[in-house]
Amino acid sequence: MSVECFVTGGSGFIGQHLLARLTFSGHKVWVLMRHVSNLETLREQVRQLGGEPSRIHAVQGDLNQQELGLNAADRQRIAAASVVFHLAAQFAWGLPLDQARAVNVDGALTVARLAASQRSRLLMVGGYMLQNIAHLNSIGIDHQRPETTDWPAVYQRVGGYEASKLEAHFAVIRDMQAQQADCTIVHPATVCGHSESGHILAGQPVTELIRGLVTGKLTAIPGSPRHWLPLVSVDYLVALMVAAAFDPAMANQQALALDERTPNLQGLLTHIAGTLQVQAPRHHLPLGLLRWLLKIPGVATHLGTSPESLNFIQTARFDMSQSRELESRYQLKHPDLEITLEKTAQFVRRALMVSPAP
Ligand SMILES: NC(=O)c1ccc[n+]([C@@H]2O[C@H](COP(=O)([O-])OP(=O)(O)OC[C@H]3O[C@@H](n4cnc5c(N)ncnc54)[C@H](OP(=O)(O)O)[C@@H]3O)[C@@H](O)[C@H]2O)c1
Repeated sequence: MSVECFVTGGSGFIGQHLLARLTFSGHKVWVLMRHVSNLETLREQVRQLGGEPSRIHAVQGDLNQQELGLNAADRQRIAAASVVFHLAAQFAWGLPLDQARAVNVDGALTVARLAASQRSRLLMVGGYMLQNIAHLNSIGIDHQRPETTDWPAVYQRVGGYEASKLEAHFAVIRDMQAQQADCTIVHPATVCGHSESGHILAGQPVTELIRGLVTGKLTAIPGSPRHWLPLVSVDYLVALMVAAAFDPAMANQQALALDERTPNLQGLLTHIAGTLQVQAPRHHLPLGLLRWLLKIPGVATHLGTSPESLNFIQTARFDMSQSRELESRYQLKHPDLEITLEKTAQFVRRALMVSPAP
């Protein structure tokens, strides 16, 4: 059955793959775009990813504006959406609190209220840190009483991007519960490329990791042998998102999109380095020391990373029971992660040859 959907963040990495999957399945999609003049470029990108470009339509808007800046005609156009997929977010290290909050928290609340007002299911993308209860506790969030959180202190501890994603999550759940509206949340691990083409965009954390190896800037393994950076392929992620979005049993539920077979960070870096035939780092650098080094002026810029990025490297393991149920209901299977990483690394290297790293 073909339905209409409204998608924010459709021009982003996950968004492009989501549009490809939705339109390939016959759905019509309205995309919130800050620059509708980019629609033809987006359609072409989605066509290359296997989607059907003629099913993609744009509405002009911005998370930073009141009611997303939608005009009355566009508001009417998206009113029939069965599902509102909220992916848009400002992702950058060092985001100031006000800016992060305006886009990632207030923007998310506006999208959620729009979904509730037209009785669309909201499918929101969170992040796997929200499923790491020990981490939440350690940064001052009691996940059972999030309203007691001192948010400015959390922004101080983990930076604007992560803090705003965490704050948005709890704010949207509270708001949707108050309105008795449906909400489903999918939490991706760090996303790597497509399992067949390796397609990934510049600026993604995995792209930056691969660039670090190619340019020889990543010379030590952050953390200990117990540390890992949980990954998920973008094709598995969007398949899980679509399954969850249309499943009545997933109303007001959350699922993790994470490949438990992700090796530890050392294994991950060794595998990528082997594919690219570059030197793999062999020695570990404790996270505390690395965090301290990255605070030295110029070091983070030189290494192309930030102390904020280190929070995503951890030792925690996750409860995958909800995802396993979804996987068996929809016969979802993670693609082979080693092959996916090889394809992703080759894709990034090809892209670097076209526009070399600075
Ligand atoms: N990638 C990961 O590893 C990862 C892991 C966990 C969770 N997530 C979450 O997944 C979601 C999508 O991530 P992604 O990696 O696909 O992001 P991305 O490639 O950085 O794309 C971000 C998207 O958000 C849009 N956007 C940014 N600011 C906006 C604004 N003010 N108004 C309207 N749209 C705006 C961008 O539109 P423009 O084209 O106009 O810039 C773009 O479409 C995010 O919520 C992110 O937090 C990602």
